[in-house]
Amino acid sequence: MLVLQNVSKTFSPNTPNEIKALCSVDLHIAQGEYVVVVGANGSGKSTLLSLIAGSFLPDEGKIRLDNQDITQWSDFQRSRWIGRVFQNPLLGTAPDLSILENFRLAALRPQAKTLKVGTGKAFQQAIQEKIATLGMGLENKIHQKMGALSGGQRQVLTILMATVASCKIILMDEPTAALDPKSSALSMQIAQQLIDKHQLTALLITHHLPDAHHYGNRILQMKEGQIRRDIGAKEKKQLQLNDIFAWFSE
Ligand SMILES: Nc1ncnc2c1ncn2[C@@H]1O[C@H](COP(=O)(O)OP(=O)(O)OP(=O)(O)O)[C@@H](O)[C@H]1O
Ligand SMILES: [Mg+2]
Repeated sequence: MLVLQNVSKTFSPNTPNEIKALCSVDLHIAQGEYVVVVGANGSGKSTLLSLIAGSFLPDEGKIRLDNQDITQWSDFQRSRWIGRVFQNPLLGTAPDLSILENFRLAALRPQAKTLKVGTGKAFQQAIQEKIATLGMGLENKIHQKMGALSGGQRQVLTILMATVASCKIILMDEPTAALDPKSSALSMQIAQQLIDKHQLTALLITHHLPDAHHYGNRILQMKEGQIRRDIGAKEKKQLQLNDIFAWFSE
């Protein structure tokens, strides 16, 4: 479904600050895979997700989505298919707009077809029903500003918005790093439910290794701009948490 071929990215090329953030990365991700990405600081994890999202373009290589070459597509064009959750819960939503208005924006994306967008009661009710499934009581707060919610509430709503927008892929870059342990655990569980329910393809970057161990059906370790390990579903099940910790002392 998503294919990266020989993708490289160098920041500040030909200067003393040159950094090879990604070096000839090849990656094939199948529909429905939930890929966890771990690795040391600066190993290229966020760069990988940014290249997939189109936040910047690769220096070399190709990116394909469903056999379509999207290498030169802007992040806006890709946002039809690709949703993103950032470490900072304030990114990814419009904090001055209400929950309902944020969902209306998501539903306005061209490919969104699950809901009839409108200002009317039917749209509001449909959104309330969706939000109610999160079990956080937020369905009664749809007129509250997004910025007034807690980080955990916003992260979960951001994922739900991606499903309303009919995104196929969800990219999560340390989505729980700013959350307390309880909110973090709840967000991860809800993300899993949404991924299952909507059969999303997902990438999760995390430094929380118990989550990396528990979630996903594939795990990548990034090291110095390359994929050092790529472990599929069967082997990941056998993997112990201590094995993953040990990768960091190599
Ligand atoms: N916009 C940028 N301009 C210049 N250098 C950058 C930029 N973004 C990332 N880098 C550099 O590229 C390398 C990879 O960064 P990246 O953010 O992908 O790492 P990461 O694996 O996500 O790390 P962390 O775990 O700390 O988030 C680092 O050396 C970083 O300093
Ligand atoms: Mg990062």
